[in-house]
Amino acid sequence: MPRLELKGVHKRFGGAMVLDGVSFSVDAGRVLGVIGPNGSGKTTMINVLNGVHRPTKGEVLLEGTRIDGRSPHSLLRLGIGRTFQNPRVFQSLTLLDNLLMVTEGMGRDGGGIDRALGLLELVGLAGHAGTLASEVSGGQKKLVEFARALMTSPRLVLMDEPFAGIHPEIKAVLMARIRASCDESGITYLVVSHEVSELVDLSDELLCLAEGRVLASGDPRQVSSQPEVIEAYLGQPLASNPAVAG
Ligand SMILES: Nc1ncnc2c1ncn2[C@@H]1O[C@H](COP(=O)(O)OP(=O)(O)O)[C@@H](O)[C@H]1O
Ligand SMILES: [Mg+2]
Repeated sequence: MPRLELKGVHKRFGGAMVLDGVSFSVDAGRVLGVIGPNGSGKTTMINVLNGVHRPTKGEVLLEGTRIDGRSPHSLLRLGIGRTFQNPRVFQSLTLLDNLLMVTEGMGRDGGGIDRALGLLELVGLAGHAGTLASEVSGGQKKLVEFARALMTSPRLVLMDEPFAGIHPEIKAVLMARIRASCDESGITYLVVSHEVSELVDLSDELLCLAEGRVLASGDPRQVSSQPEVIEAYLGQPLASNPAVAG
């Protein structure tokens, strides 16, 4: 049974069908890369998957259980974590407290602090556990969000443009940790990124969204080299498209 399955997911905003029948599935321990031009519905899809939006039509299943329409909080408890394009951390809290707050009230025992410190160490921020989030870089905030997403022992982590605008060293840490946690803990990742070559290296499968539909999906190298994907992605006719000419 797939870890995550979408069946004909639609999302309409007013007159616009932003997701127009999206279907795919991804298994445990896999990284699914998602590409697509601006406005193709990538963030909306993440918002549907973590309960920010209820789909207009269609089904979302987590290991066979319908989860569409549940709240983000209930989905967090069910094992769906998320990071944001612009990291959302609490600036006035320390990095450690940013991690601890997510498991508050979830009935965990006293292992929270050890777990949080372990995760900060995993992303190279152990030395900053007591630092206020306002004092670390944008890239480090992305690492904090990633560590925070792992606090709740997720089954699925949704990441919206995690590599945008961060230092290459931080990007490398993030990519290595995504891959490792996937291989070691069987976590499934859905990673949206415009950095196609990095995403091809990281992903087990690649999916291209265009105008709210799945334009192509499958082997990352194959998908990223399909002419219709290149054309949709760069928004240029093939003849004048440098990605093809090169
Ligand atoms: N809450 C909303 N209300 C109305 N329109 C929205 C909303 N969220 C997204 N959209 C529209 O849906 C389309 C897809 O947006 P989005 O999912 O953010 O695309 P992407 O992340 O692929 O760039 C855009 O045209 C955007 O304006
Ligand atoms: Mg987006």
